Amino acid sequence: VGAYILECLAFLLRWLHVVAAIAWIGESFYFVALDRGLEKPRQPVQGLFGESWSVHGGGFYLKQKFLPAPAQLPENLHWSKWKSYTTWMSGFALFCLTYLLSPQVYLIDPSRIALTSLQAVGLAIAFPIVGWFVYDALCRLVGFRDGVLGALVAGLVLVFAYAATHLFAGRAAFLLVGAVLATIMSANVFFLIIPGQKRMVAALTRGEAPNPLDGARGKQRSVHNTYFTLPVVFAMLSNHYAAAYAPEHSWLVLALIMIAGAVIRQFFVLWHSGERAWWLLGAAAALLLGVFVWLAPAPVMTAAPPGTAPAATTATPAVEAKGPADTAAVVAILGRRCVACHSAKPTMMATAPKGTTFDTAEQVEAHAGLIYQQAVALKVMPPGNVTQISDEERAAISRWYLGRDNAAH
Ligand code: HEC
Repeated sequence: VGAYILECLAFLLRWLHVVAAIAWIGESFYFVALDRGLEKPRQPVQGLFGESWSVHGGGFYLKQKFLPAPAQLPENLHWSKWKSYTTWMSGFALFCLTYLLSPQVYLIDPSRIALTSLQAVGLAIAFPIVGWFVYDALCRLVGFRDGVLGALVAGLVLVFAYAATHLFAGRAAFLLVGAVLATIMSANVFFLIIPGQKRMVAALTRGEAPNPLDGARGKQRSVHNTYFTLPVVFAMLSNHYAAAYAPEHSWLVLALIMIAGAVIRQFFVLWHSGERAWWLLGAAAALLLGVFVWLAPAPVMTAAPPGTAPAATTATPAVEAKGPADTAAVVAILGRRCVACHSAKPTMMATAPKGTTFDTAEQVEAHAGLIYQQAVALKVMPPGNVTQISDEERAAISRWYLGRDNAAH
């Protein structure tokens, strides 16, 4: 029952997290587009910087931007902050509930580094905190030399990607790099952008000129947040794509896809100022395509028809020239190594992950391709090898899968 309640909580938190993130990122995109699309005001008004008309939901909207401020502040001001805070808090709670509660399953991969549960949890919590302090220190040290700062922040993300993929299990590693960026984004809102705006409003209410440094700082951090959005969303979704986090140089995969995300974001930023920088989109597409080609699975050795040379020689080491293993043997292996989770009545989890169960020979046959992919080709199952599957067992699954593949052709 306890496990079931945790699962319900995780479901609610994930739902909240995704909805809050959509609202936050949507608002962030909206304001960048609005800012970039402003036109010269038709009538001069004191402090009016630009305006933009739109039609939406059966009415017409005139949005006006005042800089530094309108002659008189309105009574009601909307502050954009709760979407960000809600996203961060629900994300952190979800991370605690899933990853931190089961470090052996999710955080630790003994083939990378054999951390204890306590070390893994401590490191996972330290990651985003250290990330924020280093990032914030860089911003304060470098000031407004934006090119230098941009390069340093990109370098910082690279260091975190490298560290995470060498310390944590694949899925957790990508997620944690995403968490570092997401924490920086929310902390920018919480520690810099909102307090700066509060001081600005307070100064204006007193009839004084606001400190321009607050405005400039807020703007700088807000620009960083803009380029973090797409990389963060990829990192958060990546844990469904074992092909991305399982390879040896996964930190490079993560870095390249994040760069593509930032480039795509730049395309849209320019788009809203009326620029059509298609080459940016082309560059991002080429980068992604390059990553896909790089990650494409190597051809596996299949039994050659009599009298011909073997079709391919780049075999997975697991594939050996023994005869195919039969399904019963594989069902027995999965019974030992997988059904603790993948079962109608799992013992290590509340419910079978993704509803995938291997209790019967039919179920195993039906999932043959996925089993081969996850347990042999990518070796991401069992997670962190908690159930200690052996290389021989993986090889037997491989022979079984490839054998039945040949039989089918
Ligand atoms: C400790 C629990 C656990 C064990 C043991 C385990 N798995 Fe998994 N498995 C998971 C989780 C959690 C997921 C969901 C991963 C995700 O969300 O992408 C998963 C996902 C999968 C999937 C992907 C299902 C889909 O529809 O995409 C396959 C296939 C799979 N496991 C096969 C195996 C095999 C084969 C073994 C044994 C060799 C195994 N698993 C052992 C927890 C486990």
